[in-house]
Amino acid sequence: MTLDFRYKLTARNDLLSDGGRRPRFFIRTYGCQMNERDSEKMAGLLVQMGFVAAQSQDIADVVLYNTCCVRESAEDKVLGHLSVLRRQKTERQFVLAVGGCMPQQKNMEQLLWDKHKYVDLIFGTGNRHRLPEFLWRVIEGGERVCDISEGDELPEIGDIDVASREYAFKAGVNIMYGCDNFCSYCIVPHVRGRERSRSVKDILEEIRVLANDGVKEIMLLGQNVNSYAGEVNFSELLKLVHDVEGIKRIRFMTSHPKDFSDELIAAMRDLPKVCKSVHLPLQAGSTRVLADMNRMYTKDEYIALVMRLKEAVPNVAISTDIIVAYPGETDDDFEDTLDVVRRVRFSGAFTFIYSKRSGTPAAERTDLVSRKVANERFDRLTAELYPIMTEINEAKIGKVFDVMVEENGRGRMDDHTLVHFIATQSMTAGEIIPVRIDEAKTFYVTGVSV
Ligand code: 5AD
Ligand code: SF4
Repeated sequence: MTLDFRYKLTARNDLLSDGGRRPRFFIRTYGCQMNERDSEKMAGLLVQMGFVAAQSQDIADVVLYNTCCVRESAEDKVLGHLSVLRRQKTERQFVLAVGGCMPQQKNMEQLLWDKHKYVDLIFGTGNRHRLPEFLWRVIEGGERVCDISEGDELPEIGDIDVASREYAFKAGVNIMYGCDNFCSYCIVPHVRGRERSRSVKDILEEIRVLANDGVKEIMLLGQNVNSYAGEVNFSELLKLVHDVEGIKRIRFMTSHPKDFSDELIAAMRDLPKVCKSVHLPLQAGSTRVLADMNRMYTKDEYIALVMRLKEAVPNVAISTDIIVAYPGETDDDFEDTLDVVRRVRFSGAFTFIYSKRSGTPAAERTDLVSRKVANERFDRLTAELYPIMTEINEAKIGKVFDVMVEENGRGRMDDHTLVHFIATQSMTAGEIIPVRIDEAKTFYVTGVSV
């Protein structure tokens, strides 16, 4: 299917661009690592079709927005940018496509179709592999296309154009899609569908292909990677990935605390390639709020899990997601969040103010926290988090760490700490080098390669 469209489109470049130059595409990605990986795959399809990547959307023949809807602010950003593109469309011809999570919501699909008529193509997350066909219908057939199909099985092996990866030395690999947890505030299960795990064979084949192509670091991706339920469980999958030659570091995200088993802790302890960092969303510290959120763990259970992890894996870095001002959150509830922050000592955190998502149970709540209190709590939370993060980094001063080079003078430690370093010799991305740390900031450290 893809090949057909490649040949047809290449032969009809004139449809899109003048002077026989190859048509250009530009993808803007919003949201999580899953979306980033989806964009790489769609870029791969476009390259197969004969497109080349454009440096800016202003000169692209196809502009594709891969969207996120997890918070209202993410949607507002997209809608803001779309209005800019609408104006551009009066000045020059290009195809505008909106894909990803936003159109997966029924009301948004309708809104885009009815109110944003300058958008030529609207599609979802489950059918992104049909992008060539959709584009063909828009370009060749002059159609305006809207197709949000549910439950499509995404073909993963075979549609990946390795050349479309953003980094040469590291890559994300989806191990599962969707989410079954239905946290009360979250739109993801409604747009990404039920949990589906990929087969071990497909995952390992993809990783071997990547390793052969020079990839050194793999990030196993999924909404809840540790609920992976293929032929083996997640801990066993880690062992199999560990055996792939050429891979030096293995990361994974996101983990759900309820599924973080002792077996997984042991696997992290025993497998040297598995990085000593865990992204473990807390969301809230109060057991009452956690129950309201349907998170399926208590404050004490979360803390106990972190303590088990820290004991088994010394110096493990724990990062997190925290939501403030969930409906009904009291001052005491919020104090519980701060208490967990102090006791766990997170090395990084994404912090959010609760955002109402229609279609979720929490959207029905009327006991909303005021904007003012929400902002105050948000500021108090970061004021608690940041000094701890700085202290964690300060403890690294004077010591030498292995750093995987990402670009000249920049790399990451095993625990994901960002390092800016002075290089004593030239080095290539993906190489692991020793760096002595001499200065610590909140979000990074600096050092000299030794
Ligand atoms: N409001 C605020 N934050 C949210 N998240 C998910 N849904 C919402 C919402 N409605 C946050 C959670 C999740 C992260 C990806 O986004 O913290 O872990
Ligand atoms: Fe959303 Fe909860 Fe699923 Fe994460 S686990 S994607 S927060 S429903």
